[in-house]
Amino acid sequence: MKIETIAVHAGRNTDAGSGAITSTLQLATTFERGADGTFPHGYVYSRTDNPNRSALEVCLAELEGGACAAAFASGLAASMAMFQALSPGDHVVAPLDVYWGTTIQLRQILERWGLKITTVDMSDICQVEREITPNTRLLWLETPSNPLLKIVDIKRLVGIGHRSGAWVACDNTWATPVLQRPLELGVDVVMHSTTKYLGGHSDVVGGALICRKEDDLFRRIRLIQTSGGAVPSPFDCWLIRRGVSTLAWRVRAQSQQAAQVAEFLSHHPKVAAVHYPGLKEHPGHEVAARQMRLFGGMLAFQVKGGRDAAIGAAGKVKLFTRATSLGGVESLIEHRASVEHPGTRTPDDLLRVSIGLEHVDDLIEDLDQALG
Ligand SMILES: Cc1ncc(COP(=O)(O)O)c(C=O)c1O
Repeated sequence: MKIETIAVHAGRNTDAGSGAITSTLQLATTFERGADGTFPHGYVYSRTDNPNRSALEVCLAELEGGACAAAFASGLAASMAMFQALSPGDHVVAPLDVYWGTTIQLRQILERWGLKITTVDMSDICQVEREITPNTRLLWLETPSNPLLKIVDIKRLVGIGHRSGAWVACDNTWATPVLQRPLELGVDVVMHSTTKYLGGHSDVVGGALICRKEDDLFRRIRLIQTSGGAVPSPFDCWLIRRGVSTLAWRVRAQSQQAAQVAEFLSHHPKVAAVHYPGLKEHPGHEVAARQMRLFGGMLAFQVKGGRDAAIGAAGKVKLFTRATSLGGVESLIEHRASVEHPGTRTPDDLLRVSIGLEHVDDLIEDLDQALG
């Protein structure tokens, strides 16, 4: 089945009681036992499972082509569960420019908890190979990366990870399953911040892990989800499931528009550099063209004149909203370095842009007047 059809139908049920064609929001925290003590509908208590969460998990597993999924209260709760599925002493290799929140999680929480962490430029396969140790249990990929849009070769990194007995997980938040299918390239676990494109409307925070197999790793993830307790509310699951219905159409339009904005910026006299994998000069263009269907709705650019010029341009936009986050229907712009903590690798003159569904001509006009 094609992804547009999965996005509309997977995990969606007509309500048996009323015939309502949208899934019922089930707010109950607990579910009645039968007279014989069993649970006739399979649900016991809403932290461990809930009809709206099950519906979302079925949908996410089908979208990514996985066997099973676990939904979490945020993207970081999902990555946390993946890292906690490892054991103290295990070694994780992650990209140098991994999402800032993941860096904080790894360095300030999980390192203290006993994980060994190495960050490396994963677009350089030799560097990754050099960092593998007998204790390496996980290669964590993020492609395109946040905020520099670096691209890594998923298939080759899966080869390296699996040869050394490590799992390979991929944060697929920016590409979405519409553009990139890491499980088909051999990855074991896909992670999402469903806050972004999957929810799609900037009104719900969530996360998910989707596994290729229903194996011991997934059982550990499920245990961390239900006994760690970072679960999404039924309404959050309902909103994300609803947002997914239009995912393919939104992401394709946003990608086409982002490509046009990137092209415009690449010729703008006030712009020093554009980071967008769809541009031929982008160092990851060839790999991205192989493993992605389109190049996504996110881009970043550096403004001539440094930090002040970048902040000045962001201050002049009229249609873009100055805000963090991404993947919604409205276009956002952000001076990324100032939202990250000291020690960030993000250039001070960089603006990150999430392209929404406004008309691309209006978006380009807005950036043009803001750059002056
Ligand atoms: C690539 C990526 N991964 C993970 C996250 C974290 O997701 P959340 O904010 O839902 O915890 C984000 C948030 O911006 C992100 O961009």
